[in-house]
Amino acid sequence: MAGTTSTLLLALAGLVTCQAPGRPRETGVPVPAVGDHAAYARWMVRSMTWGTMSTISTQASIAGYPFGNPVSFADGGTGNPYMCVSPLDSSVKDLQANPKFSLTLSAAQGQSAPAACAPESGRGDPENPPCARLALTGDFVDVTGSPEFNTAVAALNATHPTLNSWGCFQAGGSGGSHGFFLAKMAVKQAWLINMYGGAAVVDAADYYAASRA
Ligand SMILES: *[C@@H]1O[C@H](CO)[C@@H](O)[C@H](O)[C@H]1NC(C)=O
Repeated sequence: MAGTTSTLLLALAGLVTCQAPGRPRETGVPVPAVGDHAAYARWMVRSMTWGTMSTISTQASIAGYPFGNPVSFADGGTGNPYMCVSPLDSSVKDLQANPKFSLTLSAAQGQSAPAACAPESGRGDPENPPCARLALTGDFVDVTGSPEFNTAVAALNATHPTLNSWGCFQAGGSGGSHGFFLAKMAVKQAWLINMYGGAAVVDAADYYAASRA
């Protein structure tokens, strides 16, 4: 019982010291309750503008090792992270060999990261559970020529307008000199820590069914 009580007190202290757990970017959308894991995951994906994609490397010197690489994305409220990528990119070469990857987000990376994430605030730290972190895992899908292409353009144009100058939004793909094209992650699982008590695992059905962020 003592352990339960101290865990509860720790959780309450965390709630008090972090007014807005994981508020990366203002979207005008209320932050879901920390216990509503599927909605919280959807809200993070809706709110954040970049993450780290991890692939199984095909680079000769590190073949088979995980390889992480920051990538811009936007989901436009669909739950599908859309991104603009080039076949010249090491991660995309990996994905052409093996489409399985993950996309990791931390509330600490936002411009208005909450105090729960900030060591300067005393208790905060990117590894502090109330500093939300999310790892999506799924499959890489090229959306060129699919009905989702326009959805992906609209989502990315709203938050990453510079991608237009890279040729990302050209219908038919093969944008610019780097052959940029639009793709998405078809999400299989969301792994979330946004409070004390361990990770929550949300399956694809619950993730996509969650209240739209
Ligand atoms: C991107 O957004 C701007 C500003 O709203 C708009 O003028 C432009 O037509 C959009 N581009 C595409 C490709 O949708």
